[in-house]
Amino acid sequence: MKIVGGSTSRTLAKAIARELAGVLVEVAFEKHPGGFPDGEQYVRLLAPVAGEHVVVVQSTHPDAKVVELLLLADAIRDAGARRLTAVVPYFGYGRQDKRFLDGEAVSAKAIAKHIAVACDELLTMTIHNPEILKTFPIQARDVSGVPALARYLKSSDLDLLLAPDENAIRFVKEAGAIAGTPSDHLKKERVDPFTVRITPKKLAVRGKSVAIVDDVISTGGTIATAAKELRAQGARRVIAACVHGLFVDNAEANLKACDDVVATDTIQSLHTKVSVAPEFAAAIRALG
Ligand code: R5P
Repeated sequence: MKIVGGSTSRTLAKAIARELAGVLVEVAFEKHPGGFPDGEQYVRLLAPVAGEHVVVVQSTHPDAKVVELLLLADAIRDAGARRLTAVVPYFGYGRQDKRFLDGEAVSAKAIAKHIAVACDELLTMTIHNPEILKTFPIQARDVSGVPALARYLKSSDLDLLLAPDENAIRFVKEAGAIAGTPSDHLKKERVDPFTVRITPKKLAVRGKSVAIVDDVISTGGTIATAAKELRAQGARRVIAACVHGLFVDNAEANLKACDDVVATDTIQSLHTKVSVAPEFAAAIRALG
């Protein structure tokens, strides 16, 4: 098996290759030092892949990395790969999973259609709504990134895992079962892309150590609002934990409300403290 890492996921690809005892294929991402002046992407495989089962690992965020994934998949096919598995650790555009208003694109489906042109199957992680995978033109499976987070949370001396909204209840339940920690949840209403409102709720957190667990931290608005509520109710220590750390806009300032922040390597960041390589390696092995 050969593993190709896109530029968003080189470290993760290396870790997956190690787990699977596969061969990592080096890639050049620049034709000239500094890349193209107009910002266009470039890829060149630096080793042969003809006749191989190839796994290409690339998150589809930010936008240019979608293009890079399509170029990689095309280059791998043209080089004669026998089978091509796309591992998309963070599926950018996954949150536009339906037509909320007439005339909108179902963005998740649109991106998947393009990946399907060259790839035989797709694995992604903790996608916003796994149901969307049924509309993809190739076989697609959601792998949970929560066990990786739970490994960290288990050793963090926590009294409670808190879901900041109802969508995250499944994450705190899964993490809680692994870490052996009870869970609770809040109700959240989104006011605008930067502001959320939480329904007041009495939590048993006075003097306790609590982790807020979510699939994505984007602006950190959700975490900051939940952390404020926890502090107001007397929590001693607050940790923010997410599978996908986008950390855009004011996120770093918002996260100052927390004593610790942990994210996985689906998106590499300053807060990446755990790897999902074991989860993807197991899912790749299970493909048969
Ligand atoms: C939304 O339902 C997601 O699960 C996250 O709660 C959301 O994406 C977090 O966004 P932000 O960090 O901007 O509040």
